[in-house]
Amino acid sequence: MKKILVTGATGQIGTELVTALRERYGADNVVAAGHRAQADRELRESGPYCTLDVRDAPELEQVVREHRIDTIFHMAALLSATAEKNPWLAWDVNMNGLLTVLEVAREHRCAIFSPSSIGAFGPGTPADDTPQDTIQRPTTMYGITKLSGELLCDYYFRRFGIDARGLRFPGLISWKTPPGGGTTDYAVEIFHAAIKERRYECFLKEGTRLDMMYMPDALRAAIELMEVEPSRLAHRNAFNVTAMSFAPEEIAAEIRKHIPDFSMSYKVDPVRQAIADSWPHHMDDSAARREWGWKPEYDLAAMVKEMLEKLGEQKREG
Ligand code: SER
Repeated sequence: MKKILVTGATGQIGTELVTALRERYGADNVVAAGHRAQADRELRESGPYCTLDVRDAPELEQVVREHRIDTIFHMAALLSATAEKNPWLAWDVNMNGLLTVLEVAREHRCAIFSPSSIGAFGPGTPADDTPQDTIQRPTTMYGITKLSGELLCDYYFRRFGIDARGLRFPGLISWKTPPGGGTTDYAVEIFHAAIKERRYECFLKEGTRLDMMYMPDALRAAIELMEVEPSRLAHRNAFNVTAMSFAPEEIAAEIRKHIPDFSMSYKVDPVRQAIADSWPHHMDDSAARREWGWKPEYDLAAMVKEMLEKLGEQKREG
């Protein structure tokens, strides 16, 4: 039976990942570790919870030892826009946090899931059908930490046999968790604004095409990858995965099919626009499909329909 630790459990992915893992492996087998003193009530009450700074090796080791952890989903990290505001903190949390987790994993022979991102690519990367193995050279601090993290995970596998696996997530969209300081946050904000005010001011300009994914697909991808028989994995780490690719005007048009009077204007944020412009438009995720059977369930139309339904229900319930 797996004994799992989720770091960054109060973050954008972590919050929902803990719930999904507890449903699958049993609540007592999934320890949620967050850095905020005030964890979400559901998170604290549905299973073991602790506060943890991922850079604190003794603290992390104690949690791993105490709960006999064998698998770590290491989700604690700063996202792209937040990282540009404080690049030094981003380096510290994203790199030293990962190194601490890998070291504890080496000591206790844990498997690791470490998420990478479309942010690990850069302006020199082919933007369309971005290959699994290609030039990366990211220009943001977030991207630099994500690419370094990919390499570090590969290194720990090759050098120490640590079963470190990971995905390059696109922008993630969820009705449950708010966005956490990323460049793709507009694709979540747009739904809240559409339901509340029937209009949205977008911080990325028309035509900015990026890969995206609905959160249930992202959670399933992480869990499925960690369950795959290791011999099937040629890449193991940093798999491209995507479910849809759209520009702001395309998601707005899809929302308008459900809310005809929805309107969108643009007020471009130069920092986030520059980040988005350095990322791929559409990744080729055939390696993930081939090696471990990755297949998304939600396209743009299905995601938009469900987001509006769920957020509408939430609003009616008050
Ligand atoms: N959603 C993330 C961000 O925008 C991409 O990994 O930072």
